[in-house]
Parts: sequence; C-alpha cells; structure tokens
Amino acid sequence: GDDPVRAAVPQAGDPRLVLLRRVGVVDPASLDDYRATGGYAALRRAFELGPGGVIREVLEAGLVGRGGAAFPTGRKWEATARQFDRPHYLVCNADESEPGTFKDRVVMEGDPYALVEAMTVAGYATGCARGYLYIRGEYPRATRRLEHAIATARARGLLGEDILGQGFAFDIEIRRGAGAYICGEETAIFNSIEGYRGEPRSKPPFPVEKGLFGKPTVVNNVETLVNVLPILEQGAAAYAAVGTGGSTGTKLFCVSGTVQRPGLYELPFGATLGDLLALAGGATGALRAVLLGGAAGAFVRGDELDIPLTFEGTRAAGATLGSGVILVLDDTVELPPFLLRIAEFFRDESCGQCVPCRVGTVRQEEALHRLTKRRSAGDLVLLREVGQAMRDASICGLGQTAWNAVESAIDRLGVFAEEAS
Ligand code: NAI
Ligand code: SF4
Repeated sequence: GDDPVRAAVPQAGDPRLVLLRRVGVVDPASLDDYRATGGYAALRRAFELGPGGVIREVLEAGLVGRGGAAFPTGRKWEATARQFDRPHYLVCNADESEPGTFKDRVVMEGDPYALVEAMTVAGYATGCARGYLYIRGEYPRATRRLEHAIATARARGLLGEDILGQGFAFDIEIRRGAGAYICGEETAIFNSIEGYRGEPRSKPPFPVEKGLFGKPTVVNNVETLVNVLPILEQGAAAYAAVGTGGSTGTKLFCVSGTVQRPGLYELPFGATLGDLLALAGGATGALRAVLLGGAAGAFVRGDELDIPLTFEGTRAAGATLGSGVILVLDDTVELPPFLLRIAEFFRDESCGQCVPCRVGTVRQEEALHRLTKRRSAGDLVLLREVGQAMRDASICGLGQTAWNAVESAIDRLGVFAEEAS
C-alpha cells in the first residue's frame, strides 16, 4: 500500500504478530476499527481485576522495560502505586531518539489507540489521574494521529471523568520535544514538561518516589506500555509462555543499515541474530558487524550470529539489546568515520551539565578524529581513560554509555588494531 507504516513493517498482516497485529491493517484514525479488532478488551479486564490485580498480572508476566534498560515494569508500577503522596503522574516516553530506533514511531502511527488504551490501563493500575505523552518533535504524523485518537477516545467516554462508567477519571496530555536527544532521559523529560532546561536530575530519588512536579511518577516507553494489552487479554501465564525465562513475550527490532529488507520486525524473544538477519534477507554485501542497541550499544562481529536476541543472551555475549537497534554493516562500510560520527553525535547531544561527559565527549571525538588520520597507540590509551571516566562519573546514561560503541569496535572488531602493536 502507500501507507509508509505498512512499508516499515515487512511482516504486516502476519497472524503471529502481537504488538504489530493492527499496524498496516486497520485505519489508525478509526476507533471502530480498533474496537472491532479487540481494542478496549484489556481495559475492561483491568476494571475486573482492580489496580492491584493488574499489577500482579504485569509482575507475573515478567514484563521488563523496552526503552533500553529492561527494568521490571511491575516493580515500577507497584512502587508508584504504594506512595501516599498525591497526585501520581504517568509519563509515556515517546521521545524515541536512539540512532537506529523507530519502533515506537511505527506503533504510534499505525495503532495509536493501543497506546491510548495502554496508558489508561497504566494510569488505573498506579493511581494516576493524568498521563503525559512526551513525544519527539520530529514525529509530526504520530503526533497528529495520537491527538486525533485522544480526542476521539475522550468524546466516546474512554478518557475523562468517568471512563466506561467505572468512576475512574484519567486524561492524557501531549507534550512535544524540541529536538534534544537528552530530553528522552526520564528526569530530563520532567524538567522539560515543567518548563525548565532539559537536563537530567541525579537519581536517586527515583521517579517512582519523586518525579514530575516532585510527585510519584511512572515513566514507561511506548513499546513497554503496549505490551500490557496482550498481558491482560491473554493472561500473564500465556504471555510469559512466549520467549525465554529472562525475556518474556515478543520484541520489536529496528533493522537498518546495509541490509536487504530494512524495517521493523516483531519476533518472540529467543530468536538469534542470525534468524532475524535471515528474515531481513541478509546483509547487502559480506557481513562485517552489527551494532546492537544503537549508539549507546555495542558492536558484535559478523561471525557472532548465534547470539540470542534476549536481554540475558546479549548481556552474556558482552553486548546489549538496548531498545532493539540492529544496525547492519557490510564490508563496504568504513568503520573509523562511522565511529567518528557516533562520537560527534554524543558531543553534540551532551547537555553539558557534568564535566566527565561535557569534556569527555569532546576529547573522545578529537582522539578519534586524529586516529582516522594518523594512528597512534597514545590516542588509544587516551580514549580508554576518557571512556572509563565518562562511564564511572557521568550523571546520566548519555555520558555513561558514550564510549560503549567505540570501545567494542576497538576490542571486538579490531578497529585501529594495527596501531596498537
Ligand atoms: P536506568 O537503569 O537508570 O533506569 C531504568 C528505569 O528503571 C528507570 O525508569 C528508572 O527510574 C527505574 N529504576 C531503576 N532503579 C530503580 C529503583 N531502585 N527503584 C525504582 N525505579 C528504578 O536506565 P535509564 O538511564 O533510564 O535508561 C538507559 C537506557 O536507555 C540505556 O539502556 C539505553 O539503551 C536506553 N536509551 C534509549 C533510547 C531510546 O530512544 N529508546 C535513547 C537513549 C538511551
Ligand atoms: Fe548531561 Fe552528559 Fe552529564 Fe548526562 S552525562 S547530565 S548528558 S553532561
């Protein structure tokens, strides 16, 4: 079809899809389509279970966050729900900005009501009367479709003062980011919504205790939230039967780079990197490496295709699944300029609040710049020292991960190896 969303999901319409089952199939503007394909069954189930029952299901399902850090979602919900301080807030992190990540965009554009329903369920379970959907400014189509979905849901009694006649009040407000990568960091989102500079706060206190406007706040990624729907529809046990012990359910993988069929794929956890690449038609040339987890992630070699795409499997292999970036590099890609581009990105996006990251990202880029011209063992030592300082002493994930990809390229792919000897 001519819908770009359909093109982004090569498996559109496949009956095995769970999170993407409606994407490229239903009219994203139609609440009737959404309801005719099972929409709002999860919210009805939530009202039957009660807030505590919903949290139990999410805990038993083993759902962990899909934004990149894989923190148990049920524990986050439980910790917020039990706070006495009121009000509680829900923030959906839709500031998807990790280079190579586009999963949340496809879900929001192709199935916006799913996110509206999932946020309503999350709000109900955790005692929130208001949800903020923080969406990146570069996603105008997703923003329009969600604005429409929210307004329609409100007009039909699915948001507002008395949802489905159950006496539960909840509403959603959209806030748009303005192009800064750091505004996807959860506490920088709070500052941004509150009208301050988008700079991260120190954790702890964690948002579940002191978040938006200093109140208990649940922050979940888009993909995390929409997983709550199949959990309630199927029940926790059936949901957890898919995947592996440490990674339950299905995962969205963003396949890009020098690959035959780039796009968004949904697979049960446990498939290997090789399985996924086969589905995507393989690399366009000879496979050199894959960047897993995006700029904050790590490279693996082209001969490591048996790595299971699970949180525990990638961790055991010394890599990370992150938010599901699978960036394929064949042998036509020059790695040093690619690394330099990553370093430039972090230098550009560092908010500058803390020294290790503000200075470290500059030093990293300079050293890489020199290394692409003239190789020196001294610059490799410098890179390692700067990288370690950023990892150990930065306030937030940006600085802590800014050296990951470069380090893995040096240690795993042997980039600049001839100079180290
Ligand atoms: P984190 O590990 O600090 O926290 C993960 C989540 O768990 C947060 O919501 C945090 O508040 C919560 N949490 C952690 N410990 C807790 C506790 N004891 N009690 C209650 N809540 C607790 O990781 P962070 O900095 O939130 O995220 C880093 C990840 O983000 C990286 O893995 C990276 O891959 C990913 N990332 C994703 C991007 C995207 O566009 N999807 C962009 C940039 C980074
Ligand atoms: Fe800002 Fe970097 Fe420090 Fe994070 S680590 S607070 S992005 S300077």
